[in-house]
Amino acid sequence: MAGLGVNIDHVATVRQARRTVEPDPVWAAVEAQLAGADCITFHLRQDRRHILDRDVRLLKEIVQVKLNMEMSLNEEIVGIALEVKPDQATIVPENRQEITTEGGLDVRGQFSRVSEVVRRLSDAGIVVSAFIDPEPAQVAASRDAGCQAVELHTGRYANATSPKEIASTLEELRIALNDALQAGLVVHGGHGLTYRNIMPVAAMEGFSEFNIGHSIVSRAVFVGMRQAVIEMKQLIEQAAKK
Ligand code: PXP
Repeated sequence: MAGLGVNIDHVATVRQARRTVEPDPVWAAVEAQLAGADCITFHLRQDRRHILDRDVRLLKEIVQVKLNMEMSLNEEIVGIALEVKPDQATIVPENRQEITTEGGLDVRGQFSRVSEVVRRLSDAGIVVSAFIDPEPAQVAASRDAGCQAVELHTGRYANATSPKEIASTLEELRIALNDALQAGLVVHGGHGLTYRNIMPVAAMEGFSEFNIGHSIVSRAVFVGMRQAVIEMKQLIEQAAKK
């Protein structure tokens, strides 16, 4: 069964709305772990719009499960990752104006820079994953660049509205999942996953981890982080049993 990576960025988004000290994403990481999260994920963005350097230092100290750092190819951020040494780094594209990560990383188009960063991170003992669109060319490029894992972008599926579109985006994920497994990669999934749409993806055999942020943090506002994580874990478990 796939593990649950809880992305705590948006706890920090609320804090940064007032540039104050609460809510603390580090507390959120503690609560998520108490509820059974298998991984804590954060994205240190170049513009520091949510997670701050102080959070990264503390998360490294207090996270007892897998710590996954989402990061761009920016040299300053690569340097921080090499210093902090999270268990896993997920390389993502990053544009200044975007509200959230928009598309997957173009590993094929930036092959030499991606390969160089993957090598430096891997040499430091960090498991490297690339966040890619579910496309065969990107899966092959990620493997060739030396990644141990890929995270398939589930956004097209999450945004699909008609049954036809939902079916075709699920099929696209299924094909990319199988391609990646055949290439010997560990496969994660994430972006736009919610309590309402997780089941069909979680029912696919082969995913090792789902990284979910906005939906869990949104529910946590009403039911608390612990309960929100428990409910998402239950859905993933139920889907795997079907
Ligand atoms: N995976 C990656 C690589 C991401 O960039 C994000 C967004 O930070 C997520 C997963 C989580 O997406 P969401 O907040 O929509 O659950």
